[in-house]
Amino acid sequence: MPYAYYERSLDLVRIALFTVLGIIYILAVLLLESVIMPLYVYRPLNAMLNADHASQTGDRAHEIISAEYIPGDEIGQIMRSRNETVAELRRQEDELERALDRLDTAKRKMADQDRLVSLGMLSAGVAHELNTPLAVLQGSIEKLLETIPEPAAQDRLRRMQRVAARLKTISEGLLDFSRVRRQEKQEVAVHELLDEAWQLVSLDEKATQTAFHNRIAPECRVFGNADRLMQVFVNLLRNALQAVPSKNGEIVAQTTLQIENAERWWIIAVEDNGPGIPADVLPDIFEAFISTKLDSKGTGLGLTVSEGIVQQHGGTIGASNRPGGGARLEIRLPEAPVTIDPKPVEGGNVYAR
Ligand SMILES: Nc1ncnc2c1ncn2[C@@H]1O[C@H](COP(=O)(O)OP(=O)(O)O)[C@@H](O)[C@H]1O
Ligand SMILES: [Mg+2]
Repeated sequence: MPYAYYERSLDLVRIALFTVLGIIYILAVLLLESVIMPLYVYRPLNAMLNADHASQTGDRAHEIISAEYIPGDEIGQIMRSRNETVAELRRQEDELERALDRLDTAKRKMADQDRLVSLGMLSAGVAHELNTPLAVLQGSIEKLLETIPEPAAQDRLRRMQRVAARLKTISEGLLDFSRVRRQEKQEVAVHELLDEAWQLVSLDEKATQTAFHNRIAPECRVFGNADRLMQVFVNLLRNALQAVPSKNGEIVAQTTLQIENAERWWIIAVEDNGPGIPADVLPDIFEAFISTKLDSKGTGLGLTVSEGIVQQHGGTIGASNRPGGGARLEIRLPEAPVTIDPKPVEGGNVYAR
């Protein structure tokens, strides 16, 4: 074979080889750019950039890279680690927020406590100042009762005596505000208790223009401290009296017996035909110092104290507005337990209320 021919053949082989290699290179680059890079590099990087943007703009719903974008390689590892860091950061943020919330609530409670303590000290002081003149007043009434025989004067004096006794109870109640006293409990007839509470509330002039309907079932009896329960009903009736219109005011007290899993509860409701409880007061009505009358007759403590007393009696209290207008305050108390007469009687035990 001549040398020239051999040389040409070698050139052809070289050209063919370069062409094939060139085509393979171009195909490889094409494959890399159009499939491999977009799928394994650009897509995860884009997902990471979008998630970072979401983090920076506070878009919590999109800041975690979803698993479908995370490849199983080193880039995927970086992405997973980033997800964990962000999640941990958010967890710590949430915890901090909750701690701050708790601190806020504690601060508010402390401020309330402070005000209650000052009020307790103030009321204890007032009670102390009241006791001496009250004792003098009670003594004088008793003296007069002994010396003035006219029936009309006797009636009036007895009424004064009742009012003075009530003042003494109130003054003791003021002392209870700053310290908890053990209270005697007994069976209490609620109908009579409401009559008495109304008598006290109706010392107010406005009561002469207001109708009070005591529709408490005569058999309604609860177990508790009559003075404390009286304080609750005085609070409810006084609020109602303050709310009703000055002419044709109407207040109704009524009961329903609720039997639940063999437990008997009395629902005692006081309703009025006033304007109802303001919508912004209703959700916090039992909180201390919530009042629309702070500048006149209110302290915002009436219902707070009432709730405390009702809870001490194992009951609950609720407030709502009636569909037809006016407020409805509702107390739920367990019925006084049936007492079994210990003496055996012919024909079995006597069950007495
Ligand atoms: N019967 C009612 N009708 C309308 N609003 C009422 C009634 N009872 C209570 N409220 C509202 O609830 C608030 C809180 O009552 P309360 O705790 O007794 O405090 P106070 O009477 O000293 O304001 C009142 O200021 C009033 O706005
Ligand atoms: Mg009140």
